[in-house]
Amino acid sequence: MKLNIALLAGDGIGPEVIDQAVKVSDAIAKKFNHEINWRPALTGAAAIDAVGEPYPDETHEICASSDAVLFGAIGHPRFDNDPSAKVRPEQGLLKMRKKLGLFANVRPTFTFPSLLDKSPLKRERIEGTDLVFLRELTGGIYFGEKGRRDEGETAFDNCVYTRDEVKRLAVKGFELAMTRGKKLCCVDKANVLETSRLWRETVQAMEKDYPEVEVSYEFVDAVAMRLVQWPNSYDVLITENLFGDILTDEASVISGSMGLMPSASLGSEIGLFEPIHGSYPQATGLNIANPMATVLSAAMMFENFGLQEEGKAIRDAVNSALDKGMVTEDLADGGKAYGTSEVGDWLADNI
Ligand code: IPM
Ligand code: MN
Repeated sequence: MKLNIALLAGDGIGPEVIDQAVKVSDAIAKKFNHEINWRPALTGAAAIDAVGEPYPDETHEICASSDAVLFGAIGHPRFDNDPSAKVRPEQGLLKMRKKLGLFANVRPTFTFPSLLDKSPLKRERIEGTDLVFLRELTGGIYFGEKGRRDEGETAFDNCVYTRDEVKRLAVKGFELAMTRGKKLCCVDKANVLETSRLWRETVQAMEKDYPEVEVSYEFVDAVAMRLVQWPNSYDVLITENLFGDILTDEASVISGSMGLMPSASLGSEIGLFEPIHGSYPQATGLNIANPMATVLSAAMMFENFGLQEEGKAIRDAVNSALDKGMVTEDLADGGKAYGTSEVGDWLADNI
């Protein structure tokens, strides 16, 4: 297969982890006879520095004319403590999601056999965890009208959803559940929020089209608790943008490190594949960041092209690296820690 992949390394550790995903993908291409044309483009603080904009038009053109986007991380501390900043790196990611029509963010949480004791949660609680969040990504409070009034003394962020937005996400949730454990949990706050009542009503009306799927409705606060108590009771969870953002960070610690979990953002022809972690500014340039989440995001990218074997080859290499203790400092636990690039080299050599 001939693949054009837009490569958006972004900020902080983004370029370092992206380099490893490129090495591993190139090894896959060699082994399985594919041709990958990497198309680098600017985004985030790096793009603000270069052209004053976190998602420049040229970057969008490169993404929109590629088969997929592989993304590193976005964000820089110099913007975090400056509430008055007009342009922020994160706006680049939001704009990209919206312009590429990526309304469904697939965020799996699973455990690795050799890391069961690395999780802050007890082994017996997390063993067997294999759940997927489908987070709505282009609506809700992230994209509603926001502003100030009363001479700046009052601030507001509107949360808006249409039935169609809920439905298209829920369709993906039901379809995914059909390929897995046939359980779907709709996470909302329908006891308080009108948007949540629209979510619940929409999903309830769809249940009859998927009679095999067992549907449950749970409030987001309760899910936050149950996720760490009985994570292995969940299969597919669908939820709105902000709840999904928060719960997927929480869920990521189940696996043992935030540096392990990949994601895919889907909804149009072009998928976006990125680790769920951020730009980890303190680690920038130190060659200590865990590249596994980005490498596994590349696996999701191959699988999304229907290249299951290629995805599996990456997952197998990651599993054997973890089994052999070929890990970065976040997982070393006093043992030997390898550098980001050493882990990437090892994975590429073992494809
Ligand atoms: C994520 C991130 C983003 C989000 C930020 C960087 C805008 O936290 O992908 O989860 O909130 O969606
Ligand atoms: Mn987040």
